[in-house]
Amino acid sequence: MTLSVTQRIELSPSSSCNTKLADDPWAFDLQPGYGPGSSEADPIPDATTRPGQLPQAYQEMSQQQLHERIRRAKATLAEKLVILGHFYQRDEVVQHADFLGDSYQLAKAALSKPEAEHIVFCGVHFMAETADILSEEHQQVILPNLAAGCSMADMADEDSVEAAWEDICEVYGVDPEHVEPGADGKLPILPVTYMNSSAALKAFCGRHGGIVCTSSNATTVLEWAFERAHRVLFFPDQHLGRNTAKAMGVPLEQMPMWNPRRTLGGNTAEDLQQAKVLLWHGFCSVHKRFNVRQIEKAREEYPGCRVIVHPESPMPVVDAADAAGSTDAIRKYVAASSPGDVIAIGTEINLVNRLTSEYPDRTIFCLDPVICPCSTMYRIHPGYLAWVLDEIVEGRTPNQIIVPEDVAEPARVALDRMLAAAPK
Ligand code: 13P
Ligand code: SF4
Repeated sequence: MTLSVTQRIELSPSSSCNTKLADDPWAFDLQPGYGPGSSEADPIPDATTRPGQLPQAYQEMSQQQLHERIRRAKATLAEKLVILGHFYQRDEVVQHADFLGDSYQLAKAALSKPEAEHIVFCGVHFMAETADILSEEHQQVILPNLAAGCSMADMADEDSVEAAWEDICEVYGVDPEHVEPGADGKLPILPVTYMNSSAALKAFCGRHGGIVCTSSNATTVLEWAFERAHRVLFFPDQHLGRNTAKAMGVPLEQMPMWNPRRTLGGNTAEDLQQAKVLLWHGFCSVHKRFNVRQIEKAREEYPGCRVIVHPESPMPVVDAADAAGSTDAIRKYVAASSPGDVIAIGTEINLVNRLTSEYPDRTIFCLDPVICPCSTMYRIHPGYLAWVLDEIVEGRTPNQIIVPEDVAEPARVALDRMLAAAPK
């Protein structure tokens, strides 16, 4: 298949990895897809707002009517409202966002508007949870569609991580509830969770001397961790953990995988003694599609082209690329290029399409010829945004994401460590 680079690539049944993605959004929402609420084990705050139950009137509105409603509600709510949007959101949603960013920037953006009573988060559930943890008491965080979860985040659940921690601590001969530093002042191990995880896992890290990282600060965070501990348990994304630790010089033999379905994660006690980074068996289904052959093909077709990928991509892909970085790093990489440049990108299609449109004087395309958007980010449609904003104007609070304080408090400890470790 020849790479199409002259224009944005639109979803169609023949070009996408899931033919249902090209259905109308309400039909897509009724698919027994990912859910039920957001993140596998989370309660649905308001059971009347299940996916696919967007009031019929909003399902029947034209795009223009929806956009008008959104604009009107924004004008009415003015300073009381802030809309945050992740780079992977559709353009129809991005156009209404007050802040657009990667997950680190959006976590900080949640802090930057204390006067806003309503934070509408156009992203996925773990991002909204983080905003709720970091925001002020009087602020409400709203996720327009509760089915916008993250499949990678759900690959590590609290019970499995707790069980792994107990097994690991037993190997190191320490009490899992009170891991103490050794004679050299360092802990035998501490947990690091990727931002793409439930609030419960951030709380786990807060309680056990650990920290949160994002793709934009993973190196800084691992440096922070290795100043305090001999080893790290990194979850849920094996690829971000491996790519980051490898770039820091950790040998692959010292990065065993922890498979929660196997005894000792599929390792021997000796493997674990030698380990520097224990990698949880998690991955992003969007980024694992990228492969080295796609990079070779791009270079064959466009000699001199440069390749940048997200670090959730497998290690051979990151190694073969010219650069790797967070969604914002990818955006900056393209912004720093020159007219006429050719850039192949390994990340979610909405961001790639936007960059293709913003820089028509460059050739910018996605490495994967099959369109495979993040199907959960995709669940935020202008219809849901219009509906939640109208509800807010009416004095109601739909789809509020509330992290209970007993979870939020230790999770905040781990997030604050990250914010302090990675000044930007
Ligand atoms: P960023 O932190 O780079 O925005 O990544 C978030 C994410 O979910 C990528 O898949
Ligand atoms: Fe999660 Fe992957 Fe979607 Fe990012 S792209 S939100 S990691 S499923």
